[in-house]
Amino acid sequence: MVVDDPPDSPAGGSDVSPRRTIELLGQFTAAWEGLIARLTTSVDLYDGSYSQYSNCVYEEIRAETYGLDLGQTGWMTSEELSEFSKLLQLNSNSNLLEVGCGAGGCAIFLAQSSGSTVTGIDINENGIRNASALAESSGLAARIQFKQIDAGERLPFVDESFDAVFSNDAMCHIEHRLDVLKEWRRVLKPDGRIIFTDAMVITGIISNEEIATRSSIGRYLFLPPGENERLIASSGLHLLTAGDVTASVENISERWKDARAKRRDKLIQLEGEPNFLGLQRFLDCVHTVSQQRRLSRFSYLASRERLSEPINSTSGPHRK
Ligand SMILES: C[S@@+](CC[C@H](N)C(=O)[O-])C[C@H]1O[C@@H](n2cnc3c(N)ncnc32)[C@H](O)[C@@H]1O
Repeated sequence: MVVDDPPDSPAGGSDVSPRRTIELLGQFTAAWEGLIARLTTSVDLYDGSYSQYSNCVYEEIRAETYGLDLGQTGWMTSEELSEFSKLLQLNSNSNLLEVGCGAGGCAIFLAQSSGSTVTGIDINENGIRNASALAESSGLAARIQFKQIDAGERLPFVDESFDAVFSNDAMCHIEHRLDVLKEWRRVLKPDGRIIFTDAMVITGIISNEEIATRSSIGRYLFLPPGENERLIASSGLHLLTAGDVTASVENISERWKDARAKRRDKLIQLEGEPNFLGLQRFLDCVHTVSQQRRLSRFSYLASRERLSEPINSTSGPHRK
């Protein structure tokens, strides 16, 4: 079949010529493809952060972002971690399980500050490698161990083996949340407690593009307010307090983005430009949706047994 060249001039009274229509369609298709590519482009955060943990550029960025650098890759300040340690009642007799321990710095801090014995688990091989090296170099290897484990599966620990389970900003990645909470209950001693945070609670209107950018670093599970409380109760655990800790996300995401922007050239060399820009877009989106409280982060403290006395949080935003 022979297709005639489209004429330049409009036909049949239309204001736009067929040639112009084809040009516009081409522009629209390119813009659409660009948008789809942005929505589906995945960006690396964890592999790079964990394998480059001791690179001085990343150390400087963490120090500027968090104040006290505990090797975090989430939204937790050191003050929050100290508060969580108190709420979990950690002491030198405690056996703690940290789920989604990342590079291991928070587990080391908890072991050092409370005297607890700690097992850290994470699905990321680079995180566990770094964490094990940190345990060796800190001289705490006798009290800390790290294992590469998918926390969405049955845990390889016997019943009632831990006094506490702690998980910061990892639950949002882990499948089968009700089963996960039941597993935590199974491995807890009768007077044990858990704390986890979740930064994916939808508390406002979010666009599909924001959801895609917010999820560009991995698989995420978003949920409505009240769902974590419902799952905690269904698992047989007893909610003690829940606290809105979104302010940490708002502040950390902005400081992190700014600290990275200052080191743009070095980071582009290390990460490549597409990943650098993708992470900057991710941090910008995290800041916007948390500042406007459209996506919120909560912490949840629960006990295995029902407590007769209400608990008092010494500081922080915890409430029942
Ligand atoms: C935001 S980072 C938090 C790391 C650390 N807790 C912190 O606060 O810095 C989330 C962590 O969850 C881990 N993770 C994701 N899915 C997991 C799974 N199924 N089992 C165990 N860890 C997982 C990731 O590898 C990552 O290290």
